[in-house]
Amino acid sequence: MNKQKSFVLIGFALLCFALALWPVVVMAEPCPTHEVELVCHVEEDRALDRAAAQYRTCATCHGQMGEGGIGPALIGRPPEYLYMRLTQYKQRETVGAMSSLMWSQVTTYHEDDLRMLAEYVSRLRPTLVD
Ligand code: HEC
Repeated sequence: MNKQKSFVLIGFALLCFALALWPVVVMAEPCPTHEVELVCHVEEDRALDRAAAQYRTCATCHGQMGEGGIGPALIGRPPEYLYMRLTQYKQRETVGAMSSLMWSQVTTYHEDDLRMLAEYVSRLRPTLVD
């Protein structure tokens, strides 16, 4: 075998090796690429902005920061809990004595809106007044 031929063979072998390994490398990617992740965050921010706007009507009863008023305080509640309650009210379930007040609040909201509202409310933090 001359030198040139063996170079070609080695090159071909390396190419096969790389091609065989490629799917392994691609599959092993643990999380979305940076760009995809960034887009996810931007979309989440937009959804949270929408939830913030929607929460303004809720604030009349639950307070600007979820501190409570006519309705109970929502502050410190985890998103799963809030979403569960909102879903119950959407299904017109009775949770407390004043559940009917909540039924009309959530009827027009889509499941995704409720999920985002729950997420938004769970991020409310009390403001310190000095
Ligand atoms: C008219 C006043 C009013 C408005 C507006 C209102 N709520 Fe309520 N909310 C209540 C009352 C009263 C309750 C307690 C209901 C019961 O007895 O089950 C409640 C309960 C809840 C609960 C359950 C709290 C708990 O501790 O289990 C959540 C979550 C909630 N509201 C979220 C919202 C969101 C989000 C909005 C806006 C889309 C909203 N509320 C708008 C009055 C209101």
